[in-house]
Amino acid sequence: MRRNHISNTLSTLGPTEVCGLDLSQPFDDDLLAEIKALWHSAGGLLIFRDQHLTAQQHIDFSRQFGTLFGSPEGVPLQDTVSRYLHPDHPEIYRVSNQISADGQPRGRARAGTYWHSDVSFRERPASASILYAKELPGIGGDTLFANTEAAYAGLSETMKTLLADVHAVHDFAVAAATQYAKPLVMGDDFDGSNQALHPVFRTHPDTGAKSIFVNPGFTSHLAGFHRSESDALLAFLYAHMTRPEYIFRQVWQDHDMVMWDNRLLMHYAIADYGQAPRYLERTTLLGERPV
Ligand code: SIN
Repeated sequence: MRRNHISNTLSTLGPTEVCGLDLSQPFDDDLLAEIKALWHSAGGLLIFRDQHLTAQQHIDFSRQFGTLFGSPEGVPLQDTVSRYLHPDHPEIYRVSNQISADGQPRGRARAGTYWHSDVSFRERPASASILYAKELPGIGGDTLFANTEAAYAGLSETMKTLLADVHAVHDFAVAAATQYAKPLVMGDDFDGSNQALHPVFRTHPDTGAKSIFVNPGFTSHLAGFHRSESDALLAFLYAHMTRPEYIFRQVWQDHDMVMWDNRLLMHYAIADYGQAPRYLERTTLLGERPV
């Protein structure tokens, strides 16, 4: 009964929708392997339609793919977002433009309204993120995904050679300066643990495919270049990575659960819905050190 899901590839980049599969139940080994293979062939983007999960079931589903940020065996996300975590489930990061009855934010407003790859400022950034749509505005609130493997493939051989051994500094301070009001940056977020050096081109550990691993949200500069050179090269890469040909637009439906691979996708949450309520819950998987 659990195998009656239908896969439908939504664009040439591979994003695939899966219908008729109940994520609240644990997968057996065969089904888990099938979903992982489908995820890789889907350009790292699976859309599971019509899901009805508790927070614990969302966590249990996610744990089948690895260790979660915020779990006892994992590491926390940066302190600055701790106020947006689910009060009973620190593995769940909440995104919302709403205020709770007690006057506290129900989640982070305008979260991810910039191109980024989740937690790329850590030595071990996020592999997957799994976002569950619980309340959506009538219009707007879509999320864009940019496929950085396709973008890598679209570079000239000369550009690939120039940047082949170059590393980039990723730093939470970049987002803190542009996306967070200063008093809201909390704790020890500038103590160095939210800063990392990663190769500009990384190789996916499961597929062997190369992608471009820099993003405007968190990348500070390219190591070994003058700042003006780094700025120019990053500006070129960002313009290239966000060409329309590499973009998929997720138009959310109620109860969608979207699982994306941060190793080959950047994303951007479009904040175009004003005060219309939008509430989503995200788990985030701890990845490996990029190589
Ligand atoms: C995020 O995880 O960056 C938020 C994405 C969204 O709200 O669509």
